[in-house]
Amino acid sequence: MFSVLLPTNSLLVAALSLLLTRLSSSSLSVPDIPHIAAYFGTKTRYEEVNPHLLRDLTSVNTSVLKPPPNERCSPVHLTAVIRHGSRYPTVKNIRRIQKLSELVRREASRGSGGPEDWLREIQSRWDMWYTEDMDGQLVMKGREDLRHLARRLAAVFPSLLSEENLKKKVLLPVRASVETSHEISVRERRCRGVAMVSGHPCVSSLQVLEYKSDLKQYWKRSHGHVISGLSSCPLFHHVFRTLDKAGRPRRSTEASPEPASILLGHAETLLPLLSLLGLYKDQTPPTANNYHAQHGRSFRSGRIVPYAANLLFVLYDCQRGPRLQLLINESPVRFPGLEAEDAPLYRDVRATYRHLLDGCDFNRECEGRTGGRGPNTEL
Ligand SMILES: *[C@@H]1O[C@H](CO)[C@@H](O)[C@H](O)[C@H]1NC(C)=O
Repeated sequence: MFSVLLPTNSLLVAALSLLLTRLSSSSLSVPDIPHIAAYFGTKTRYEEVNPHLLRDLTSVNTSVLKPPPNERCSPVHLTAVIRHGSRYPTVKNIRRIQKLSELVRREASRGSGGPEDWLREIQSRWDMWYTEDMDGQLVMKGREDLRHLARRLAAVFPSLLSEENLKKKVLLPVRASVETSHEISVRERRCRGVAMVSGHPCVSSLQVLEYKSDLKQYWKRSHGHVISGLSSCPLFHHVFRTLDKAGRPRRSTEASPEPASILLGHAETLLPLLSLLGLYKDQTPPTANNYHAQHGRSFRSGRIVPYAANLLFVLYDCQRGPRLQLLINESPVRFPGLEAEDAPLYRDVRATYRHLLDGCDFNRECEGRTGGRGPNTEL
């Protein structure tokens, strides 16, 4: 049944994962690490990217900060672009999941002794518990995602993010409403405890679904079309203006630079910006007919923009001048074109992006290209 459904229906990964979760709960081996969870694309939990957090959400690795060892450096500014934490599906997707559950129920009710037996099994284990009022709301875990991230960042950058600042500034902009009537325990009960043996046919299906979702991200938000990256020109300029200001030489009498700039957004904020910076650009674009050649692709949205994804620009004051390092989801990533160093001189980063710093004019780039906005495609 699924092999028929999958290619034609835009079947939701979330819905499928729920089904597979329930189906496989009899084959537990490592209860807290569901193998299927790594393939949810932009709906992936942050812990899949940093599995050590499953053991300890507060653990940090300060060796991710990598200014040159032979040069005295200290971090002077952090600009962070952070995606919201885990949240419920939006109402559009809740309706799709509802439809799918109705389809399963209908098909399952057709006589016994056929392939429908399998569907009946699914149906008996699947209660469709999303309700429309959950519409994209942050779940409790989503709030915790950012709270823990804030704490870890404070531990890595104690001089820039004091606990005091975190309380006052960082967490306040998280305005998304947090679930109230829907108890987290309900969600936990349904999501916990699934281990799939890798190579299991369900994992293969999930990889195909993941690929489908990556195709969408690639062609709508990323390198598929140059315009996607250019849509974040204003954000790009904002970030570099902030870094310019923070890295400017100043007299000892001048006020010290703003220690941090925390920007919050969506997967749709991060992906175009990362694309503009030239990151995760594989040699061969992923397409509908090269799935098998794409196993080693770097463009995996679940690795790049899971819930609570974060892009950090760390500016250091060093003996030879300011240096800049990128961290993505708390791991070091090198600037394309400057791969020799983790934290190249800031002026070299600026030289690499000179064409964008001198151009990348949102109004000019997007002029006349407003081919009408499609339906709401926020992810
Ligand atoms: C800490 O980060 C460094 C640099 O990315 C990495 O090489 C090392 O493996 C990490 N250590 C742990 C325990 O994850």
